[in-house]
Amino acid sequence: MSIATTEKAFENISACVFDAYGTLFDVHSAVGALADAVGPQHTHLSSIWRTRQLEYTWLHSLMGDHQDFWTLTSNALHVSLRELKLDSTSLHEPLMEAYLKLNAFNEVAAVLKVLKSAGLKTAILTNGTPKMIDSAVSNAGIEKFIDKQLSVESVGVYKPDSAVYQLAVDELGVPAGEIAFMSSNSWDAAGAAYFGFNVAWVNRYSQPSEVLPGSPSAMLSSLEELPALLGIC
Ligand code: LAC
Repeated sequence: MSIATTEKAFENISACVFDAYGTLFDVHSAVGALADAVGPQHTHLSSIWRTRQLEYTWLHSLMGDHQDFWTLTSNALHVSLRELKLDSTSLHEPLMEAYLKLNAFNEVAAVLKVLKSAGLKTAILTNGTPKMIDSAVSNAGIEKFIDKQLSVESVGVYKPDSAVYQLAVDELGVPAGEIAFMSSNSWDAAGAAYFGFNVAWVNRYSQPSEVLPGSPSAMLSSLEELPALLGIC
């Protein structure tokens, strides 16, 4: 299934809301920074760590037991290291520290600057804790381009619960129909579209479209294409 861009969806946008992990920040740069210490399984470790981290958010939410994203990221790493028979004692702490300093994707700062110059409100809406997101944002030097950093910790449940997307509406004071939401996570893009945002799925890794309630209105290969989609350059 392909996604036909619905240009009209992006004609009346007042605010741009971004997912953090995978969209602004490269989650694989944590293991990448320690690839030599991890050894030949580093790509596999990064992949199963990310998958398990997300699965834990969904499982905890379904169980009605909220623990913050730092804790779930740490738990997911412990189990992933164990699965690959890697040494937790030497690797767990440095990898968690690296997760606080993820690389932003190359185009992120320039695109945010264009959006701010065009008078749009900007926000991050993430599973990450305030401390995690503060650290990633300041490490990337993009704090001046972000109006609000919104964490699921304010609502105590993870994406794609509608309470998370509602947080952006409430905190920005902008109706869902005037919000453009960007995520590279296909399931987050679906959840946000189902909620009522105008969604651009940033399909960085050419993945297939999901079959889920809610469909993105556009698919981008990176955020570089966002200003044109919004008609501001
Ligand atoms: C986030 C995860 C979904 O930043 O990437 O919310």
